[in-house]
Amino acid sequence: MKGLVLSGGKGTRLYPITYTSAKQLVPVANKPVLFRVIEAIHDAGIDDIGIVVGDTAPEIKEAVGDGSRWDVHITYIQQDAPLGLAHAVKVSRDFLGDDRFVMFLGDNVIQGGIANLIRQFEHSEWNSQIVLTRVEHPEQYGVAELRDGRIERLVEKPRQPRSNLALVGIYMFDHHIWEAVDNIAPSWRGELEITDAIQYLVDHQYQVYPYVHEGWWIDTGAPGDMLDANRLVLDELEPYVEGYVDRDSQLSGKVTIEAGAEIINSVIRGPAIIGRDARIVNSYVGPFTAIYHHTIVDCSEIEHSIVLEHTKILHIDQRIEDSLIGRNVEITRSPLKPRAYKMMLGDNSKVGLITNGR
Ligand code: G1P
Repeated sequence: MKGLVLSGGKGTRLYPITYTSAKQLVPVANKPVLFRVIEAIHDAGIDDIGIVVGDTAPEIKEAVGDGSRWDVHITYIQQDAPLGLAHAVKVSRDFLGDDRFVMFLGDNVIQGGIANLIRQFEHSEWNSQIVLTRVEHPEQYGVAELRDGRIERLVEKPRQPRSNLALVGIYMFDHHIWEAVDNIAPSWRGELEITDAIQYLVDHQYQVYPYVHEGWWIDTGAPGDMLDANRLVLDELEPYVEGYVDRDSQLSGKVTIEAGAEIINSVIRGPAIIGRDARIVNSYVGPFTAIYHHTIVDCSEIEHSIVLEHTKILHIDQRIEDSLIGRNVEITRSPLKPRAYKMMLGDNSKVGLITNGR
């Protein structure tokens, strides 16, 4: 089997972080979501992986390389415009040939990986299998209706969903998908929908089976989703300490300190991860926080947040919470008069200030 990862898109809901970086490269528990996807596919025994890229291609190629780091072979496939998931499949035809394949959206994180379901599909005669999970707001997703253990109907973002089973962005196909993607028309949003292609398979008596996933699953499109994914993944990490922790510091719960990091006179309460060559000095880092590499936190407190690389958080009186902070950001107290907030924020930044301690 082959793997196909979709890694295009602009990531508008994560602006300003994604002005300068692809959304699939934002780290969850200090590892880009896309790397987690590649690992999940590799763990399922697949080593031939195509990545569909769009505008952010140079960055994705630079970060992922040829795949040798994971012992997989990566082929990049350019999609010139974001014309839908079925369009992404269409442009990948040369790479996929007539092989069975799994398609995985590059910004999704799923508990427990996909090894079991790959095994099930690989040894079956089924033409397609799709992963579903129960969600609270099915109207935001592709929604499936089942009958006798098979897929009966799929609707993309229905106004009145007839079930709470959403498509989670992991799909398996055999070569009959080519007939399907060639016979569908763009939807109201101008995209070739994979949901419509699967409905074509169902309508033409091909065998399409569901796999209902019972663990958690997060589509990391928006900042709140990133923090949720970070929380869930941190909770499952096996902690280790490779960096330096001085005698005045305290680690409690599941805390990972990556190589080269230094914890000086600080309290780190897990689950939390401190990245390579980061420095935490006279500070408190609370649960569900991921501090990426080369970041400095000095005389400050932070909890339930993601901080990207090379950022500095210095001498901040109030605790920072529920925040997604980008690369090379500086949050400091200014000694200069007049006493005032002095900011340089990118477009679409959001800052919540506390005034007079409230
Ligand atoms: C896409 C699919 C949808 C699926 C969702 C999962 O939606 O079209 O069927 O439920 O991914 O994340 P989109 O993210 O393009 O709105």
